[in-house]
Amino acid sequence: MADQRFDLVVIGAGAAGMMCAATAGQRGRRVLLLDHAPKLAEKIRISGGGRCNFTNRRVAAEHFLCRNPHFVRSALSRYTARDFIDLVERHGVSYHERDWGQLFCDDSAQQIIDLLRAECEDGAVQWAMPASVQAVERTSDEHDRFVIATTMGRFYAHSLVIATGGLSIPKIGASPFGYRIAEQFGIPVIAPRPALVPLTLPPETLSLLAPLAGASFEVEASCRGPAFREAALITHRGLSGPSILQASSYWQAQAYEKDDWAPVSLNLLPGIDAEEWLMAHASERGLLANLLSERLPRRFAHALCALQGWEKPVNAFRHADLRQIAATLADWQLVPSGTQGYAKAEVTLGGVDTNALSSKTMEARKQPGLFFAGEVMDVTGHLGGYNFQWAWSSGYAAGQHA
Ligand code: FDA
Repeated sequence: MADQRFDLVVIGAGAAGMMCAATAGQRGRRVLLLDHAPKLAEKIRISGGGRCNFTNRRVAAEHFLCRNPHFVRSALSRYTARDFIDLVERHGVSYHERDWGQLFCDDSAQQIIDLLRAECEDGAVQWAMPASVQAVERTSDEHDRFVIATTMGRFYAHSLVIATGGLSIPKIGASPFGYRIAEQFGIPVIAPRPALVPLTLPPETLSLLAPLAGASFEVEASCRGPAFREAALITHRGLSGPSILQASSYWQAQAYEKDDWAPVSLNLLPGIDAEEWLMAHASERGLLANLLSERLPRRFAHALCALQGWEKPVNAFRHADLRQIAATLADWQLVPSGTQGYAKAEVTLGGVDTNALSSKTMEARKQPGLFFAGEVMDVTGHLGGYNFQWAWSSGYAAGQHA
């Protein structure tokens, strides 16, 4: 490709970039979509265990972490979960609903990639892929405001959308490119951290739990934020499972505010009154671990009692001790030693500071023509299809205005 002129160049052909390019192309804009990866939209392909949890029926602002909590409202209301479901239905992709309103393809995540590619074709979007960007500069030209130097030639664009995502899963193409561009144009970036990520535990806790790797049970997990009642999974390095992934984002977020690391709280007996239950069994002669095994995996119940020094028959505890044990079971506090990092994180917390962007258009307030879309921004959804919905909604907003 030689030098070419476009109304819009979108860098990053993932979920947000394809939605943005298709939207702008279908408005009649001449669009180029560029990506450095050899394979299209790998993150969509591996998402949702290969079935892509593409949205959620309960999309609302409280399912997103963002320094600027109202930022997401406008885009989410202009392109809703219903809008994406309509698109999925128009393309004949069959889907099903799982717990908590999560929607998944019946067959394969590839159907979502094919759908987005077809939408791009409808908008006559042109592709540059794989192409690496060497430099992005603003020109003094009124129309060709940006010049993008790449391994496939130089492209001139009136508007530029950065949709290069976050840092999770570097081996399939994640890069800090979007943050570098933001910094180049004087737009603040909130330090990125891995989120929706398994947590690691310190040696003293891990030595007792690691032998139980693979055990899974329902808990209510929280960290100075909402509580998530879902499965927790013990791993060789600490804890994972949906409830832990959800709490991990809040564990990472609170660390921005404080120097100390808050504990993650696990209610090990969700849905029951632990004190009432223990008191009802206060006269039992069996080990407390055996009683707990009625509600928790047996080996975990024994490890927990060893860790806490509760290795006695139930009736050997004073009532005050049982009340204390009940309080611990309802709020077992663990301070993780860290996370398993971007290699295992589903998303990135932090990113381009939304205070510098228009919530209606995704355009940088002080850089006319420069837009951001998707996960590259400081917007992090809960587990459950929210991150894709943000990619669709923000990509659509940018595509409507870029
Ligand atoms: P995305 O990462 O999709 O795309 C960014 C694109 O930019 C990539 O194609 C990349 O190659 C390209 N790029 C990066 N740097 C570049 C550079 N320097 N030059 C050119 N191109 C560059 N969410 C959800 O809602 N439901 C789900 O089921 C799942 N499941 C899931 C599983 C796993 C394993 C992961 C890692 C993540 C999920 N997610 C998810 C999260 C979801 O995948 C994620 O939030 C969206 O893909 C974000 O969309 P973006 O378009 O912003 O980035």
